[in-house]
Amino acid sequence: MTEKIKAIELAKKQREISISEFFTKNRHLLGFDNPRKALLTTVKEAVDNSLDACEEMNVLPEVIVKIEQTSEERFRISVEDNGPGIVKQQIPNIFAKLLYGSKFHSLKQSRGQQGIGISASVMYSQLTTGKPTRIISKISPKKPANYYELHIDTKKNEPEIVIDKEMDWNKDHGTKIELELEGIYQKGKQGVEEYLKQTAIINPHLHLIYHSPENTKIEYPRAVDNLPVEPKEIKPHPYGVELGMLINMMKESKSRNISSFLSTDFSRVSPNLAKELCNKAGISDKTHPSKVSREEADKLLKVIRETKIISPPTNCLSPIGEELMLKGLKKEINADFYAAVTRPPSVYRGNPFLVEAAIAYGGDLPKEDLVRVLRFANRVPLLYQQSACASTRSIIQTSWNNYGLSQSKGALPSGPVLILVHVASVWVPFTSESKEAIAHYPEIIKEMKLALQECGRKVSSYIRKTVKAREQKEKISLFEKYIPELAAALSDLSDEKKSVIEEDLKKILKKGMKNLLAEIAETKEEK
Ligand SMILES: Nc1ncnc2c1ncn2[C@@H]1O[C@H](COP(=O)(O)OP(=O)(O)O)[C@@H](O)[C@H]1O
Ligand SMILES: [Mg+2]
Repeated sequence: MTEKIKAIELAKKQREISISEFFTKNRHLLGFDNPRKALLTTVKEAVDNSLDACEEMNVLPEVIVKIEQTSEERFRISVEDNGPGIVKQQIPNIFAKLLYGSKFHSLKQSRGQQGIGISASVMYSQLTTGKPTRIISKISPKKPANYYELHIDTKKNEPEIVIDKEMDWNKDHGTKIELELEGIYQKGKQGVEEYLKQTAIINPHLHLIYHSPENTKIEYPRAVDNLPVEPKEIKPHPYGVELGMLINMMKESKSRNISSFLSTDFSRVSPNLAKELCNKAGISDKTHPSKVSREEADKLLKVIRETKIISPPTNCLSPIGEELMLKGLKKEINADFYAAVTRPPSVYRGNPFLVEAAIAYGGDLPKEDLVRVLRFANRVPLLYQQSACASTRSIIQTSWNNYGLSQSKGALPSGPVLILVHVASVWVPFTSESKEAIAHYPEIIKEMKLALQECGRKVSSYIRKTVKAREQKEKISLFEKYIPELAAALSDLSDEKKSVIEEDLKKILKKGMKNLLAEIAETKEEK
């Protein structure tokens, strides 16, 4: 009897799954779970790339976003920048191959990190409209621009070039991407306009022009003429490395011995410290890195974790800073009081990070609602998954009642308040690849709370003073009502005419009012 062997039968079906096939089925992992989000995610990926690219080149970003409705369910999106452009050979891979990028392997603050952003949008566009993505890119005024139309071969995760030609483009350098996709254009808290507005707040050096599908042009002017400090690339810190990663690094290292491997491939490991670590782990410091056994590597890692090593350098970070945060907020949000705080850098799992927070109070902010929360990671607004985010948890865990705001237990505070939280890091720990919420690392939550408390203290002294001022004003207006009566009584008691006394009383009131107004003006602004 020839009984079929099941394993052989199964083997016929077993084959590699390409990354593009995987993400076609699991598009929600990349932020394409529904047509609304797909449209926002695409704008976001393209704008984030434009900003990263301009900053790498040290040019002030000029970005033009255009969205047109082409049919009931379809939109054409284009994003154009004045960045460095992309060399011809790289264009197809960058836009039509998932997991291809320049930032994954480098430890410095940037908006993109996975190398999966824009190509996922290209894939979604192809999936929903079948149309190719168009790219124009120019790297120098002396060269013509390159124009491409691209598809992705999702079976192979390789680009398919539809058109490849040179063209004139009236620009010195830059990149423009245009694609069409199935989407829904949404206004409100999770829409493109909100995303662009928040992008303008957190990037006050950006000049952004937006042509909406309703045919309106919205301009977000630049508030400052200098670029953020350029973040420097750093090497990994020994505290952030795990066993598998250490073994891989040793395999790939060009160093001749383990001690020079440690001091050249990691930050904050001096040659002396490297020798000390080897000694403690019982490994000869002359051993070739590729000859270190798994057991030895394990021992080495243990020693690393037990040894005090100074924190990684923090010039890999580029905070916005208190002054610019205030400028960004003031140009887009109308409030009575603003305060901002930038915390010193800190470290989680060997990765440097820092937290910034700001608060705005009064003005146009709605009085009855829960506070409006603006969350950012490496200068990118996060519009989804608010309740899953470490920033939200930190706000909830801060006792706002102490600072003059009302707050129910376990909830966000309420009142005419906007709270901004920004995390800058060489590797932001998102809860998923769609980069919507920050994971709850205790080190990060702690820093967030410290920043929020400082904002709380600043706003509370303003609230106290304005409340006091309001009460005083109420008293004054009450007094004003009784002036005629009081003047009559005083005139009866004295020889003075009622009208003269009335005038005097009004003068006294006016003086009190003036002092009051001066006091309010003084507390209105923090800086
Ligand atoms: N507008 C642009 N200008 C210059 N380079 C770009 C632009 N867009 C993308 N790139 C390059 O393409 C790479 C891949 O982009 P992306 O898929 O969004 O991944 P990530 O931004 O996470 O690296 C980037 O790392 C960058 O080197
Ligand atoms: Mg990107």
